[in-house]
Amino acid sequence: MILFYNILDVSAYNAFVLWREIDPDWNRNKLHKGRLFLEELGKSLVRISSSTMWLLVLVLLGLLFVIRWYRQSQILENLSDKYVFITGCDTGFGNLLAKQLDKRGMKVLASCLTEKGAEKLKKETSSRLQTTILDISDSKNVSSVADWVSRIVGDRGLWGLVNNAAIPGSMAPLGWQKKNDFVKVLEVNVLGMIDVTLTLLPQVRKAQGRIVNVSSIAGRLALIPGGYNISKYCVEVFSDTLR
Ligand SMILES: NC(=O)c1ccc[n+]([C@@H]2O[C@H](COP(=O)([O-])OP(=O)(O)OC[C@H]3O[C@@H](n4cnc5c(N)ncnc54)[C@H](OP(=O)(O)O)[C@@H]3O)[C@@H](O)[C@H]2O)c1
Repeated sequence: MILFYNILDVSAYNAFVLWREIDPDWNRNKLHKGRLFLEELGKSLVRISSSTMWLLVLVLLGLLFVIRWYRQSQILENLSDKYVFITGCDTGFGNLLAKQLDKRGMKVLASCLTEKGAEKLKKETSSRLQTTILDISDSKNVSSVADWVSRIVGDRGLWGLVNNAAIPGSMAPLGWQKKNDFVKVLEVNVLGMIDVTLTLLPQVRKAQGRIVNVSSIAGRLALIPGGYNISKYCVEVFSDTLR
């Protein structure tokens, strides 16, 4: 601001000098008055800008306070009376999520593809966490697990459903692949996920709960040949249609 004032002052002075040379009647007195006027103008500009700066600081602090308050208000309370069902908890993200939510006191219903995975998870978690065996591409298995869930959650319903289970399928160059290479991956990653969601939807509605479908960057960009990429695009579209 001060730099701006100095530039203004110097260039105004130059203008006055030029004007005096053009107009012979110009006298030093007028030039002096002009300079005083510009000095006053510059000072009030500096005064205005410092009060504006403080106002801006106050507005920014207020904004930070509102954002913090909003984020705090989004944090859930009473986690201990909420049920969350997760698919594919043998390994990877599903396994880690089941452990994390269990640590935070939620009632986790963890489904694993194998007995071995379920037993291992049970050993590593609290008695709150319950496991079941589920192959999401098997409709009969899905509906029997849905009955198991509804018996446990009762009138409370299911607060969270996490569709995590998926397989990578074949990632060989397209020319090497056959229709069947696509079938298995789409059966698990797409039809399995849809089956689990639709079967458990009444329980989720009861609790006015949330559905989390685990997608991937492969649901936004065509990066990998084969069914996986296609399946993750489907996850995106299915999630959009659920909204
Ligand atoms: N890892 C990544 O970099 C990455 C990146 C983007 C998105 N994702 C997504 O994140 C999710 C988890 O991936 P992850 O890396 O944790 O993979 P992961 O370790 O292979 O976990 C997937 C889980 O699903 C299980 N599963 C496989 N087929 C199943 C079926 N038919 N029914 C039920 N469960 C089945 C697997 O059991 P088994 O172990 O017994 O086979 C495994 O426990 C997936 O949806 C994946 O697409 C992963």
